[in-house]
Amino acid sequence: MAPQLAWIGLGNMGRGMCKNLVEKGKLDKPLIIHNRTKKRADDLAEKLGAGKTKVAGTIEDVVASSDIIFICLGDDKAVNATIDTALQQDVKGKLFVDCSTVHPETSNALAKRIGEKGAEFVAMPVFGAPAMADAGSLVCILAGPSSSTDKVKPYTTGVVGRANIDYSDQEPGKATLLKVIGNTFVINMVEALSEGHTLAELSGLGTDNLHKWIEAMFPGPYTAYSSRLLAGDYYKREEPLFAVDLARKDARHAMDIARKAGNAKLGALEVADSHLAAVKEHLGAKGDLPSIYGAVRQENGLKFENKD
Ligand SMILES: NC(=O)c1ccc[n+]([C@@H]2O[C@H](COP(=O)([O-])OP(=O)(O)OC[C@H]3O[C@@H](n4cnc5c(N)ncnc54)[C@H](OP(=O)(O)O)[C@@H]3O)[C@@H](O)[C@H]2O)c1
Repeated sequence: MAPQLAWIGLGNMGRGMCKNLVEKGKLDKPLIIHNRTKKRADDLAEKLGAGKTKVAGTIEDVVASSDIIFICLGDDKAVNATIDTALQQDVKGKLFVDCSTVHPETSNALAKRIGEKGAEFVAMPVFGAPAMADAGSLVCILAGPSSSTDKVKPYTTGVVGRANIDYSDQEPGKATLLKVIGNTFVINMVEALSEGHTLAELSGLGTDNLHKWIEAMFPGPYTAYSSRLLAGDYYKREEPLFAVDLARKDARHAMDIARKAGNAKLGALEVADSHLAAVKEHLGAKGDLPSIYGAVRQENGLKFENKD
């Protein structure tokens, strides 16, 4: 019999991952789903169809009826608060899998607290935008005891993901350490694209001409983000795909890790984060990672928005 699975956190990433678990996870029971704002859980249950999911109103209900509990929440505070609630009941033999991007110290502390209650923990942050979560093509990083990661792997490659980075038998914080360092690449990529397109416009090369080169040289994420910049998606969208607050949380974690690692300098990230601060000022919480383009444009005398 397949274990009873549950999912807590139905934001941009969680919704897509649940869809793939339900469609490809070979579950023999409905997936239990829970979200702080219950409407999101009700809407997803309706979208995925009758009998595919069961909405749980409280974290206590989720934990009481599940064997493996996936979590995908905004930040460390949300994850810690959710686990605090979960650990108030008997969790012996249950497995918690955290897919959120949190500080490595948070992952290791969670593993300790959960282990002391007789339950298991795997950190499994993921790489990929929400469209990749929808398509089941994320890259999953798994860390924790192999006896626990083995229980999670059936739901990774071919279900929610296209590849695993396997850190089995390493401490859970190693997975989130890679995730945070990896996200500095993503943030710096958007910074480089933003500066490049601004220079292309100011120098007379033209952004379309630069985009042609990006497509030829860097297919994949560079091209996808470049397209979003040029389409004005970075300020037109009502709901961000990589919210400015989450991007700044990742930058903060990276800077804290660098500080504790002998004051390593992350100069490029500092510049990008200063642009993210300007994004938050201009667009508020609906600012998105690629909105860095607007901040770089503004700094160089252009309008934040690239379309009339
Ligand atoms: N977006 C990306 O491109 C991306 C890619 C890889 C990894 N990640 C990481 O994956 C995680 C989720 O990202 P996302 O883009 O799905 O975020 P999101 O769309 O902003 O969703 C955040 C989720 O966390 C819940 N939440 C936030 N604060 C909470 C709290 N204090 N208590 C309980 N629930 C809380 C939200 O519930 P409500 O619906 O009630 O607000 C929602 O379910 C983050 O750690 C992020 O860094 C994101």
